[in-house]
Amino acid sequence: MKTKSASISIIGMGYVGLCTAATFASRGIRTIGIDIDQVRVEQISKGKAPLHEPQLDSMLKNAVRKKLLDATSDISLAADTYATFLTVGTPSQQDGSIDLSYIKNATEDLGNVLRDKPGYHLVVVKSTVVPGTTNGVVKRFLEQSSRKTVGSELGLCTNPEFLKEGTAINDALHPDKIVIGSNDKKSASELTRLYHRFYGSKLPPTILTSPEAAELVKYASNAFLATKVSFINTIANIAEQIPGVDVGKIAEAIGLDPRIGPLFLNAGPGYGGSCFHKDLQALINYSQNKNYDPVMFRATEETNEQQANRVVGLAEKLLGSLPFKRVAVLGLAFKKDTDDIREAASIRVINQLYKKGARVIAYDPMAIPNTRKQLQEQIDYAENARSALKGADCAIIMTEWEEIRKLKAKDFQAHMKTPNVVDARRVYNPEEFSGLNYASIGLGPSTGIKNNSP
Ligand code: UDX
Ligand code: UDX
Repeated sequence: MKTKSASISIIGMGYVGLCTAATFASRGIRTIGIDIDQVRVEQISKGKAPLHEPQLDSMLKNAVRKKLLDATSDISLAADTYATFLTVGTPSQQDGSIDLSYIKNATEDLGNVLRDKPGYHLVVVKSTVVPGTTNGVVKRFLEQSSRKTVGSELGLCTNPEFLKEGTAINDALHPDKIVIGSNDKKSASELTRLYHRFYGSKLPPTILTSPEAAELVKYASNAFLATKVSFINTIANIAEQIPGVDVGKIAEAIGLDPRIGPLFLNAGPGYGGSCFHKDLQALINYSQNKNYDPVMFRATEETNEQQANRVVGLAEKLLGSLPFKRVAVLGLAFKKDTDDIREAASIRVINQLYKKGARVIAYDPMAIPNTRKQLQEQIDYAENARSALKGADCAIIMTEWEEIRKLKAKDFQAHMKTPNVVDARRVYNPEEFSGLNYASIGLGPSTGIKNNSP
């Protein structure tokens, strides 16, 4: 590869593909973003991000202006680049397994356009796929449609991403590792060279392994993080039974042990987002098909599912009963600083409140349009946190937005009919809320639910 003229293409301009494209272009590597969605392509071509991600908009604008990034739906342009990354989605199917139809279509289309390309082309699978997919479906479709052989005219690698929504650009610019899985040395060394060009002397630790191992790294990573969240939520639920105990202190203490570490120990309403649930279900399904039942990951998921009941249970404890009570849900996004509500705990909680007869009014600084698409008019929506609280019998904090975190006890007292507050994200200091009926995930009785609650 003549690194000076390095140019790459990325198929699938979703969240991962677009952030990857923007960061490659920001490092002077000419990038072609390919997507079947014409509206998305037009938006990106104008330098506009079709999704919300901090820093992405300005990065895209710059890249398009400098002609380092083009978007197109014409996949044949991939043949003019040196390497093609696949970042199409791999959504869940009913049984938890992943739907590979986008991967198959994209691979087949790519193979067709590579058929007449003279010279080498590197194909990189970045989509999250279960072990064996790159060497199975991808290799087969690619070889059949291109009539070329992987290992000689075609390079093939698995290169999972670990981007977090909200910090995806920073994560792409400063990853803690690069994982490259390949069967042949050339594929791995070509991709490593591309990353050398991207990161210069600051190349992150790079793990070279087989495609199957690289595929499993991604699932192992998300399974571990999800399990850490379910672990601390389990401890939180135990702590709630013990007078004077707050799970925050337990997390602080155990987090000081370097074998445990302080991150991902925030107890809350359960994890959400597009990856944890999807990836755990895929891993469980994959293992079971190999005749191994991963009991631990089933428990991680079950604990997460039940955590929403715990939140609703706290509201019930404060209110006595839920029918006809007005409940303000503050925060809908699966975490702060995003408009994403996929698998969000807020939706699980709202569905339960609704089933139990409560009237829900919700507020979120960004996620109302997406929630409206999913829940329609099943609930009411407020323009700001204070108007959501107006006349409410109970408030439930579901997302740790700064704006919500900044609310004071007096805001709840001033606007609510009765100041019952369920702090499912543990954003407030219980002492400051001692004049209210305040309950929090992971907070034991003497410091938690007050005796004067109805
Ligand atoms: C990524 C994936 O890599 C997934 O495997 C991982 O688990 C999470 O991150 P994401 O970026 O969220 O998925 O994908 P999504 O938002 O679904 O976007 C995929 C894009 O690919 C869409 O814009 C879609 O139009 C496009 N696409 C899909 C193609 O261009 N061609 C296809 O054949 C199919
Ligand atoms: C995750 C992985 O972190 C990332 O590496 C992978 O590529 C995609 O999936 P993301 O889904 O963007 O990223 O969000 P993340 O920040 O990991 O949070 C996931 C969920 O766990 C959120 O709902 C969050 O609120 C919850 N969480 C996280 C907790 O409840 N407690 C914590 O301590 C940490």
